[in-house]
Amino acid sequence: MEENQMLKEFIEQYKQRVEKQFPTMINSLAGPQRLKDAMLYSLEAGGKRIRPMLLYAVLHGYGRPAVMGDAAACALEMVHTYSLIHDDLPSMDNDDMRRGMPTNHRRFDEATAVLAGDAMLTHSFHLIAADQHLDDAVKVKLIEQLSRASGAGGMVGGQMADMLAEREENILAADLENIHEHKTGDLLAVGLQMGAVAAGADEEAQKHLDLFGRHIGLSFQIKDDLLDVEGDEALIGKPVGSDQTNHKHTYVRLLGVEGAKKRLDEHTEAALEALQHVHADTSILSALAHYIRTREQ
Ligand code: IPE
Ligand code: IPE
Ligand code: MG
Ligand code: MG
Ligand code: MG
Repeated sequence: MEENQMLKEFIEQYKQRVEKQFPTMINSLAGPQRLKDAMLYSLEAGGKRIRPMLLYAVLHGYGRPAVMGDAAACALEMVHTYSLIHDDLPSMDNDDMRRGMPTNHRRFDEATAVLAGDAMLTHSFHLIAADQHLDDAVKVKLIEQLSRASGAGGMVGGQMADMLAEREENILAADLENIHEHKTGDLLAVGLQMGAVAAGADEEAQKHLDLFGRHIGLSFQIKDDLLDVEGDEALIGKPVGSDQTNHKHTYVRLLGVEGAKKRLDEHTEAALEALQHVHADTSILSALAHYIRTREQ
């Protein structure tokens, strides 16, 4: 099958797989209905589900059943969605639209948006802990990986560094790379890392899947920066120009559009190189690396 068609089918299948788990999961929680409505609102607002996709692609590459990835994939998408709810808050990027719909605090209110995010983060760890398909040792490892990628040394730390950098006129390329690596790269890379653990990949493969993840993580945020400048609002589902309004440091600001594209290509190449050392079926993973480079959404 042609690479594009194969990827299209994979994405469709696994997007549905993730999305059908959210309503029962949220509705079965205890707690005020308004909180659950706010959680489900953002979880059901769409989104590419790229992080779960990476995790499932590793399992697929090792011929392992998808059910072994369900809890980790949903947990990861929940952490990501919470990060978006908080990222859009007035005290952060102050955005009104997300995934083509009003942002959570716009649809509900700020306090509800903060709490919906908090509840999603917490529930993600519960999901893995309560999973019926994985050994306890694997679950502990997955929780360790996801918490590390999400916290102070990961996504949250990257978001803080991103906010702090807004106050600086100029920053070094290495500092920008560090911000991108943590605010965005870590949650993409951890999809690969968790997939590798759930699939039982050997150490050499884990190392190279992680390297692959780091490069596509950077590619992903460089592309996000490019889309903020030259993307189509209708396709990306959020306003363009937000980075400039917020005085963000981005690859486009640092290197220009062409420079950013060149860097994106370099990271894609390096990601594909890392995959050469993974002795499993990596066809979907390499198709996802190309997709990240060329995506319009
Ligand atoms: C947007 O992530 C925020 C970044 C980390 C760049 P996505 O582009 O994956 O957003 P959704 O999930 O598809 O809406
Ligand atoms: C967001 O980066 C990263 C996280 C949410 C952790 P951006 O602020 O660039 O993401 P968008 O452009 O709002 O989606
Ligand atoms: Mg932001
Ligand atoms: Mg933002
Ligand atoms: Mg952005």
